[in-house]
Amino acid sequence: MNVHDSERMLGVLRQAGYARVDDPLKADLIVFNTCGIREKAEQKFYSLLGRTKTMKRDNPGLKVAVAGCIAQQQGAGVKERAPYVDYVIGPQNIDRVGDALLGRKGIFTGDNPELAQKDLPAERDGYVKAWVNVMYGCNNFCSYCIVPYTRGRERSRPADNILSEIKGLAAEGFKEITLLGQNVNSYRGELSFPELLRFINDIEGIERIRFVTSHPKDLEEGLIMAMRDLEKVCEHIHLPIQSGSDRVLKHMNRKYTFDEYLRKTEWLRKAIPDIAITTDIIAGFPGETGDDHKATVSALKEIGFDGIYAFKYSIRPMTRAAEMDGHLPDEVKSERLLEILSLQDQITGARNKALQDTIQEVLVEGPSESDPEKMTGRTRTNKIVNILPSHHVVSGMLLKVRILKGQRHSLEGVAINGL
Ligand code: 5AD
Ligand code: SF4
Repeated sequence: MNVHDSERMLGVLRQAGYARVDDPLKADLIVFNTCGIREKAEQKFYSLLGRTKTMKRDNPGLKVAVAGCIAQQQGAGVKERAPYVDYVIGPQNIDRVGDALLGRKGIFTGDNPELAQKDLPAERDGYVKAWVNVMYGCNNFCSYCIVPYTRGRERSRPADNILSEIKGLAAEGFKEITLLGQNVNSYRGELSFPELLRFINDIEGIERIRFVTSHPKDLEEGLIMAMRDLEKVCEHIHLPIQSGSDRVLKHMNRKYTFDEYLRKTEWLRKAIPDIAITTDIIAGFPGETGDDHKATVSALKEIGFDGIYAFKYSIRPMTRAAEMDGHLPDEVKSERLLEILSLQDQITGARNKALQDTIQEVLVEGPSESDPEKMTGRTRTNKIVNILPSHHVVSGMLLKVRILKGQRHSLEGVAINGL
């Protein structure tokens, strides 16, 4: 979501007459698009921001804007801490980044319900895969999470706007669309989310449809059936569980039990046998006991996710969890996180190994970062595949690939032919 906000701001700035430069020393404007989900991102940001102070000394025309969740959360506080900052722009005000540069006013952090009604331009990275917003904000108030405070209330984009943007992307040659929302299952346009998927499925030129993120409490039959029946909707779901302990889930305000979550994964796997399920885990939530942690570990073993993102609990201002008793020492959180990550490494490795000798459909994205001789792409289940050198493999192609090796973080294979 945050990366795509940057693409939108770049689009808005281009319309306002700006062009992108590669070297920050040549820039007239530097925009920091910050993330506030955990404290570490915040520390990194402030140390980078400090460098622009000396840059401004050498280039007095330079303007510095701070955007994103830290901007929203700290508002004027950003300027107090770093007075050389010119603009503070919250995530609900990315459409104002152009205005800000006209020098109207320094701080743009108000509620902006019109954002969802607007069609903002975007300058996307690459030309194979595109992110498309379907909704903004979040109403869930999980007790650890800052997003409802920084991104505001849930607002759905009108289905017509979404569909016409995707038709435009198809005409430009994009092959894969990822629909973005904090909780796509609560999409409320003139169409339901599964209906929206059906319309996108009919757009010629689009080959793959993905969406993030689904909240387990709202995952319903309609979506599962749409995933099963619509050929372009990929067999992957990111379904954050956060913890395997009912007690912790309750304190997190997640509104499901482990059993309910488990039943939904069983249901998904029954309807869509090859589906990949990935998740998010928080290690060391306030009050998490050794037994709660064990429940998470056994949940990982029982469900067998294809991949996880796991994080140490991080205190966030304004959230309810920040006020709870039982905050754990960093060593305990680190130890639990390590156990979770190393267990999952084995599980992911085994699941990837099981794909050896299978044939997978891969959408080629470009040269591999680790080895530019190879091209890289993803399976429908969102697994990275590095393809052995072959002259006819180019970006944007849908290929059949025979998987030769299943490793911990990626697969390796050889192209059989174009699909
Ligand atoms: N501490 C640690 N992880 C967090 N997440 C959200 N808030 C916090 C926090 N305060 C994680 C959740 C969420 C993912 C996007 O970030 O796991 O699903
Ligand atoms: Fe945060 Fe929960 Fe909303 Fe996700 S659903 S953005 S974790 S409050």
